[in-house]
Amino acid sequence: MRGTRPLLGWFSFVAFAASLSGGPVMAAGDKALGEYLSSECTACHQTSGRQVGGIPAIVGHPADQFIALMDAYRTRQRDNVVMQTIAARLTEEELLALAAYYESLKPPG
Ligand code: HEC
Repeated sequence: MRGTRPLLGWFSFVAFAASLSGGPVMAAGDKALGEYLSSECTACHQTSGRQVGGIPAIVGHPADQFIALMDAYRTRQRDNVVMQTIAARLTEEELLALAAYYESLKPPG
């Protein structure tokens, strides 16, 4: 997860494409973008929704709850350096996209 991030180019492209199609860019998170961005998260958080080694499952959270959790890291109300760093780096659009994507995943059982 360190090193160069090719995300910015991709994101501008998506934003550009969305603006061309006149789509509601900010109305809801872009699930496809969220899935793309989530590759950074799945190194730790399992997509299966299983908790592994003290890392909580993050699938199936309602989007607003997901955003509140990430906000708590960004504003350092929650104390976890890794998540604070990750949350602080995300743009609003990326956060909405991740929230939409993870909301759409079903927890197991
Ligand atoms: C290097 C490992 C790692 C990566 C990468 C990572 N996380 Fe986390 N995440 C954690 C750990 C560990 C916790 C538990 C922290 C704590 O105790 O507050 C956590 C907690 C969370 C929580 C709170 C879950 C809950 O129910 O309390 C959310 C939401 C979350 N991460 C989202 C993400 C997203 C979105 C990404 C990708 C952009 C991501 N994480 C990437 C390790 C990681």
